[in-house]
Amino acid sequence: MSAHKITYPVPGAVMKDAHVSGMPAYRSLVAEADADLGAYWGRLAREFVSWRTPFAKTLDVGSAPFFKWFEDGTLNASYNCLDRHVERGLGDKAAIVFEADDGQVNRVTYSDLLARTCRLANALKTRGVKKGDRVVIYMSMSVEGVVAMQACARIGATHSVVFGGFSAQSLRDRIAGAGAVVVITADEQLRGGKQLPLKAIVDEAIALGGCDSVKDVIVYRRTGGQIAWDALRDRWMHEETETQDDTCEPEWVGAEHPLFLLYTSGSTGKPKGVQHSTGGYLVHAAVSTSWTFDLKDEDVFWCTADIGWVTGHTYITYGPLSIGATQVVFEGVPTYPDAGRFWQMIQDHKVSVFYTAPTAIRSLIKATEANQAIHPGRYDLASLRILGSVGEPINPAAWEWYHEHVGGGRCPIVDTFWQTETGGHMITPLPGATPLVPGSCTLPFPGIAAAVVDETGNDVPNGQGGLLVVKRPWPGMIRNIWGDPERFKLSYFPPELQGYYLAGDGAIRDVETGYFTITGRIDDVLNVSGHRMGTMEIESALVSCTALVAEAAVVGRPDETTGETICAFVVLKGPRPTGDDARRIAAELRHWVAKEIGPIAKPKDIRFGDNLPKTRSGKIMRRLLRSIAKDEAITQDISTLENPAVLDQLMERN
Ligand code: WTA
Repeated sequence: MSAHKITYPVPGAVMKDAHVSGMPAYRSLVAEADADLGAYWGRLAREFVSWRTPFAKTLDVGSAPFFKWFEDGTLNASYNCLDRHVERGLGDKAAIVFEADDGQVNRVTYSDLLARTCRLANALKTRGVKKGDRVVIYMSMSVEGVVAMQACARIGATHSVVFGGFSAQSLRDRIAGAGAVVVITADEQLRGGKQLPLKAIVDEAIALGGCDSVKDVIVYRRTGGQIAWDALRDRWMHEETETQDDTCEPEWVGAEHPLFLLYTSGSTGKPKGVQHSTGGYLVHAAVSTSWTFDLKDEDVFWCTADIGWVTGHTYITYGPLSIGATQVVFEGVPTYPDAGRFWQMIQDHKVSVFYTAPTAIRSLIKATEANQAIHPGRYDLASLRILGSVGEPINPAAWEWYHEHVGGGRCPIVDTFWQTETGGHMITPLPGATPLVPGSCTLPFPGIAAAVVDETGNDVPNGQGGLLVVKRPWPGMIRNIWGDPERFKLSYFPPELQGYYLAGDGAIRDVETGYFTITGRIDDVLNVSGHRMGTMEIESALVSCTALVAEAAVVGRPDETTGETICAFVVLKGPRPTGDDARRIAAELRHWVAKEIGPIAKPKDIRFGDNLPKTRSGKIMRRLLRSIAKDEAITQDISTLENPAVLDQLMERN
């Protein structure tokens, strides 16, 4: 990291009334956490969250790495997100400004959201859902999706949201893995003017078998499209809720009660169910929403993530609502009806804090180059105060464009590094305190002991890359992998790392500032348009096409717009295809992967060989495959390669 990077100082107007104002304020929070981690988070837990029974214990390290936070306290997440704001007179404040795909706007107040949550919570109870039961939510972006999550939280049911782009097979695995008793879905979703199935995929998932735990499927009517109906199992959401009461006593749960599971990809095996707590998670969500976005009562926040991903959990459903903010929720896509949609919506709703992914920014830069009419400069974006980025590294060029053209040069960009497992922000600027360097996520959130270490857990000097770890526990951290505590320990707290949490990313700190830059995953996890996927998962999907595929290896290739793209090397059972045959089979395999996992996992590039490059001991040389995927000249030593002849075959694009 060279020292001549451009630094953007904190704008005076932002620093002035910020929750964390100026570097000394940041440093004093860090010092407070360093001095007594439990007391620090305990103070914040009391300030930001309402407890039914106050906790006496803050952090319990006794059962590490199964850390417990605020264990003897009780609370309810939905009470914290809804009731208490109504109780302090904010019932008429807009909680959600929902904009549909077709541009229709629906303003939902805190009182409305509370009543809708209570009705659905009562409906779930009527169907026999109890505290500790699991409910799968397979929904598009909608107020109902947020309500479904809140309703589960209200009755102590653990939700597991499955992104609406996952296939029936993936959905089945997640329903079966969680042992869900109810699935909440919609008839269809509406995105970019298109009606896409949801309920039909739930039907297909259940028909695949292993979902006997599911007693009811509750269906939100979004489009009114034709769907199949099982009279014994399927229920319309509006019919289930219309006769229910507007009030529902919250189920007070212990702080460690699992609020949700969220399946995510790792480097080995099937996706794992990341288990989050109620108390610690909510504390991290509330404090980070408040500080990282510097949210004030009058702000209009908009996080463009989907509720199917962790960003939609923490920075739509729980964080903003827990602090009583007003937020925009958007059903559609950034490019419909045109690629000016984001800017139009910021203008229309006077959004002041905007949080999106680098992929979206990069694709909008491209769209703008092709069509200046949708340039952000054509819209009135004066309401913007703070911008955010999440999900993947933001390259300095995209950062600068976002800063200049969207933020008018006056809005700090918070480049927030975190993960499904971390629950909330881990390394991020605080807009009123941290001078910015494009491409760096800057400094740890106060109370997060992030560090860069070597393979044995020892600190590496600044300027030298290493493994990103977190040395001490934090409230929002993953509590377990659902049903697999051994995998939890091994994946995140490997014995050689002195008990530190292993993020799975590489990082480097700047010699002078100590700022962090994330250098990317160190394992076999890909990040395609901010969607996280394991190469193993895609390989398993390919080889499960037993009629065609003998062997497959998947690697990522850097991509200017999507961050990475998926490149698959495939050995067929039959002869190696070429020309039209190769293109036809590649298309067939893409379709297969979409069926197995979801369209987001389709390999962009598929190449065929008589074999894969292997060492004499039979190990696939993945580094070599990564070079081939990039069309790079091969510089690696290939003397140990068993079958060098396949390299020419694999270099051929289809
Ligand atoms: C990557 C998304 C660089 C990283 C919240 C991490 C980032 C993975 C950033 C987690 C960032 C996320 N800069 N890389 N600001 N944010 N990542 O679980 O590789 O979907 O490990 O959580 O995304 O992805 P996940």
